[in-house]
Amino acid sequence: MQYNSTSKNKTESRYKDLLNQYLMSGSESIFLYWKGRVALYAILRAMGVGEGDEVIIQGYTCVVVVNAVIYLGAKPIYVDIDQHTFNINLDNLKNKVTNNTKVIICQNTYGLSSNLEEIQKIASKKGIYTVEDCTHGFGGSYHGIPNGTSCDASFFSTQWNKPFSTGIGGFAVIHNSSLLNKMKEQEQDKIFPNFKDRVELKMMYFIREYLVNDFTYWFMVSLYRWLSRHNLVVGSSSGEEVTGTEMPDNYFKAMSVTQMKKGIKSIQKLNEVNKIRKKNATEYTHFLMTKSKNHVNKHLFSDHIFLKYPLLVENREEFKKKAEKNRIILGEWFEAPVYPYSGSLKLWGVDEKDIPVAMYVSKHVVNLPTDIEEVNKVIDFLKRELLLIKDEE
Ligand SMILES: Cc1ncc(COP(=O)(O)O)c(C=O)c1O
Repeated sequence: MQYNSTSKNKTESRYKDLLNQYLMSGSESIFLYWKGRVALYAILRAMGVGEGDEVIIQGYTCVVVVNAVIYLGAKPIYVDIDQHTFNINLDNLKNKVTNNTKVIICQNTYGLSSNLEEIQKIASKKGIYTVEDCTHGFGGSYHGIPNGTSCDASFFSTQWNKPFSTGIGGFAVIHNSSLLNKMKEQEQDKIFPNFKDRVELKMMYFIREYLVNDFTYWFMVSLYRWLSRHNLVVGSSSGEEVTGTEMPDNYFKAMSVTQMKKGIKSIQKLNEVNKIRKKNATEYTHFLMTKSKNHVNKHLFSDHIFLKYPLLVENREEFKKKAEKNRIILGEWFEAPVYPYSGSLKLWGVDEKDIPVAMYVSKHVVNLPTDIEEVNKVIDFLKRELLLIKDEE
């Protein structure tokens, strides 16, 4: 027992040290969780978010972000996005701040940073906390500052498709020292992953490593989503998390040692993968520019990791079918303004009229892969399908 807990502590501190090499915030400010959403929940809870509080979120995000706010009894307030950055629109943000605003969540969509300086100016005038949703941006930087180190706190995800992966997983980083004690206190409320959780995780690692390839990918992804929605495997999201606003049982869960060990391995490859991501994104931009098709403005931000490359297409279903035929794996962030929910958005308090750009983008966006060796295969495909890609605006 003594040995186990010593070995767990060693693994935890090794993992935190490796994370800290990117974050430079001090290992003691890093807190590990079962998933990224739980890290957000912990941060909001430490900030004292509750009934009567408003939390500003961009209307182009993941439903689990919104749910973390709702679970605490606070109200999500949606702000439209800027079509060029896929992040919060500053003018709309200013109009949504009220005396009840407690937190602004600044998202790092596809690895593209929000304009954090301007957001912080708005927030600090009114004593509002800022939280960076860095789930897409670990390893990148903004104006020379590592992503996730500018706001009062930030949270990260290490789920399958994230910059580096532990299967599922996440962590919080605290910069406002007044939150540290509360974060530490909350550690004792975390429940620990049970035997079934750990075995299922290991099974997933095996399947991912040995059974998922370019040929089985689409079938395996559909199977995995179906199984996790029906709570038959440890999945990214259980059924109730994407169809409702009730907090699931055993939500406030710790990261297992299995995940930490996986993280220690996969973070070692991060610099190399991020180099490939940046290079491929540059090639997509260059190609799309020369064809006057929509692209991420290369002057906008210089040091994004480009977890995915966002592209707007005329007819998404047709584009996706053709991509699948050509064995090109596309991402789906965010095919709905509170992805992956596509029914009535009323349950999450979304008024579609408030977020016209997010509504438009979520109907047309596809995510090109960036972590691949054969980027020319994708560019050749884009050449053939140019008519389906939206023009530059
Ligand atoms: C923008 C954003 N925030 C938060 C999350 C939640 O991360 P996790 O699945 O680790 O809870 C996701 C998941 O993909 C996401 O895309």
